Amino acid sequence: PASEAKAMMEAHALLKRFYHHLLVHTKEGQAALDALQARGWTMDTIERFEIGYAPDVPDAAAKLLESRAFSLVLMEKAGLLLKREDGRYVDRFRNRVMFPIHDHRGATVGFSGRSLGEGQPKYINSPETPIFRKGTLFYFFHEARVPIRKRQEALLVEGFADVISAVQAGVDYVVAAMGTSLTEEQARLLRRHAETVTICYDGDRAGMDAAWRAAEQLSALGCQIKVASLPDGLDPDEYIRVYGADRFVGEIAAARPLMAFKLERLRHGKNLQEEGDRLRYIEEALREISKLSSPVEKDYYVRQLAEEFSLSLSALYEQLSHHKREQP
Ligand code: UTP
Ligand code: MN
Ligand code: MN
Ligand code: MN
Ligand code: MN
Repeated sequence: PASEAKAMMEAHALLKRFYHHLLVHTKEGQAALDALQARGWTMDTIERFEIGYAPDVPDAAAKLLESRAFSLVLMEKAGLLLKREDGRYVDRFRNRVMFPIHDHRGATVGFSGRSLGEGQPKYINSPETPIFRKGTLFYFFHEARVPIRKRQEALLVEGFADVISAVQAGVDYVVAAMGTSLTEEQARLLRRHAETVTICYDGDRAGMDAAWRAAEQLSALGCQIKVASLPDGLDPDEYIRVYGADRFVGEIAAARPLMAFKLERLRHGKNLQEEGDRLRYIEEALREISKLSSPVEKDYYVRQLAEEFSLSLSALYEQLSHHKREQP
């Protein structure tokens, strides 16, 4: 019911302030605050994202919620507390840096808690609840929505830290899907707000593969896709720390059309001096080219292949027509 959802949101708002206060103003939060500043985040950034710290105590949140007359049964449903076997309620988040997650209207509906240092799991997220449905949200969407609409462009990154560092670097049209692959609903939401989506996932293999999948999904909905691939397996947050804000903005501006990204991925690990690899590359490239809807774009990439490998246009088009027929 609506009143339960409202109480859940109020509890999240209360804990957001509590955790933030502990991070910024108490000794308990000092080590976490030091760690965040060592990452290069300024106090302004920490304030803007309302980052917090959940203390290393079993029931700090439970006690606070109880003192404010929240139903602990409901708080368990809200994902904030866990019920132990002995019937007592304890906190879900302990000794973690807390990132509040907002819905599109700006209500606080969930948290992600990052371990300090290398503790596993790295992030603990709120579970699915009546107010927190991960597959329908993006991190930072409530703030990025206006800049995204204005530019008709969204920058899609993988993680919380990537969003935060991008914003600190001056890029405010950025969102993250929070570690899962894009759902249909998330893809439609982006499409409704932006003509162009620039994808800048982690520069490791998992990130590149995920970028390819997200790109396919979004372009199927008619988004113009560009992909920025970062060097040396870096993610946007790490890249900004190493190379600075200006070069990051440059990488985003230099993002390439989806087909250029795909062709580079297809070349990766192949030796194009070798006949077998070369033929496989041409075949795979044609398969991707056949998916393009614009005849002009198709022609552009077919000509590029013809030139690079000294092939006749007619042979390539003949081969391309086979792919057409394979498609449903
Ligand atoms: P990454 O492993 O790339 O983390 O996962 P990160 O964002 O670079 O984190 P930092 O920089 O080490 O702090 C990308 C995203 O996947 C989700 C989170 O949303 C994370 O931001 N994830 C990752 C989880 O939900 N749980 C995990 O244990 C790890
Ligand atoms: Mn504050
Ligand atoms: Mn990653
Ligand atoms: Mn990462
Ligand atoms: Mn990172």
